[in-house]
Amino acid sequence: MFNNRIKIKDLLLQEPQGQQVTVMGWVRTFRNNQFIALNDGSTNNNIQIVVELGQFGDDLLKRITTSAALKVTGNVEPSLGKGQKMDLKASSIEVLGDSDAEKYPLQPKKHSLEFLREIAHLRFRTNTFGSVFRVRHALAFAIHQFFNEKGFVYMHTPIITASDAEGAGETFRVTTLPIDGSAPKNDDGSINFKEDFFGRSTNLTVSGQLEGELGATAFGDIYTFGPTFRAENSNTARHLAEFWMIEPEMAFYDLEDNMNLAEEFIKYIIKYAMENNREDLEFLAQRLADEEKQLPQDKRSELGLIEKLEFVLNNGFERLTYTEAIAILKDSNHNKKKKFQYEITGWGMDLQSEHERYLVEKHFKKPVILYNYPAAIKAFYMRQNDGCEAGKETVAAMDILAPGIGEIVGGSQREERLDKLTSRMEAMNIPADELWWYLDTRRFGTVPHAGFGLGFERMVQFVTGMTNIRDVIAFPRTPKSAEF
Ligand code: 4AD
Ligand code: MG
Repeated sequence: MFNNRIKIKDLLLQEPQGQQVTVMGWVRTFRNNQFIALNDGSTNNNIQIVVELGQFGDDLLKRITTSAALKVTGNVEPSLGKGQKMDLKASSIEVLGDSDAEKYPLQPKKHSLEFLREIAHLRFRTNTFGSVFRVRHALAFAIHQFFNEKGFVYMHTPIITASDAEGAGETFRVTTLPIDGSAPKNDDGSINFKEDFFGRSTNLTVSGQLEGELGATAFGDIYTFGPTFRAENSNTARHLAEFWMIEPEMAFYDLEDNMNLAEEFIKYIIKYAMENNREDLEFLAQRLADEEKQLPQDKRSELGLIEKLEFVLNNGFERLTYTEAIAILKDSNHNKKKKFQYEITGWGMDLQSEHERYLVEKHFKKPVILYNYPAAIKAFYMRQNDGCEAGKETVAAMDILAPGIGEIVGGSQREERLDKLTSRMEAMNIPADELWWYLDTRRFGTVPHAGFGLGFERMVQFVTGMTNIRDVIAFPRTPKSAEF
């Protein structure tokens, strides 16, 4: 058996009393041919390994270079030096993997996040990305724990689908047909997808919601947690072409139940990270504070990362209708001084992220849930509100907006009335025959139901304080970029 190591995180929790242990990890630094800082990814804290002068040959010492992989056995003693409570006095050192320090791109100094993105295959070995990805893991774990405790069924919805759930037409096609022009054609010259692998045109999923609704109308409560794909050509700090989404879907829920669950859910996973990843969050808070020192005073966050998360836990999200939001925006000094890039044209307009961020960051200074949006700017499946003024029809939609991020959740109560649903689909040119299976839920025991989607990377951004979404997913897929 090879793996008899102790993880450094667990070792650092022990009291040093001469016990013998074996650690394995990668060299961060090697000072004076005497002190190795070894890291194994379980924590940002290194174990200091003390190498007695003369105990090991020069041949071995020369191979202890930055990022070399080592197996070290020795005894744990109280440290004589400052900055750590214990040393590991090496009795044996084995180099598992050499590393050419001259060629190794990560030097023991500060690198920019942009540079680290170019070497994303190695960036996990930095403290920043170590913390970010341990927090990402913890949030994923907390998500499953939250829903499991509530009796939700984790449902795996398909990655390849024939539908565009959001109807936004931003899908990646999946095909095995040749792209050199020789694909089989119909009489009218269009491609004959009957000859394609699935016998029809297919794409990568933009959302598991429609299939999720099938699950909810059998199990009551389900959630999905998987990758989703959008071919939107948005090169921003909060858009990815491949991102992970959590989509709970609940039978016997109205819009208010939906908002309550979403708020409880977000608070639960933040609390989990605060309780289980304190060390990483404190590191990230310091990193953010240092980064913001470079910014002019008015661009800095009012709260530090930890204070921000505590504030979110301890305060209710502000809830207001779209109509109320438009009135606030219209009346704002920001608007009167024409400081919005996109003008507030009035009821019916789609909110731009600058408008959302104004509401969250300047007006309310807390997370905001906007609900009851104009039907015309929302997806076909959202429940049509009764008793709307003519020309001001709304749907029971809700978006959650978070400080520094903008939209983090999108959701709605679903249209459970077959006639209303099909007439809206017809108006929006969504072919009812292709969605026969979706409409069947409205034919056989339809119920009020609701759900939402949380963008996982945006949530990770919010909790870690990372400003660019490319820095919270291991290998980001964005327009013109699919390295690694
Ligand atoms: O608002 P969206 O498009 O909603 C849906 O897909 C619904 N089917 C969800 C549901 O009701 N079950 O997307 C949901 C969330 C957004 O609020 C945002 O956080 C995230 O997904 N998101 C993205 N995250 C990263 N990159 C992108 N390109 C994203 N597009 C949406
Ligand atoms: Mg949305």
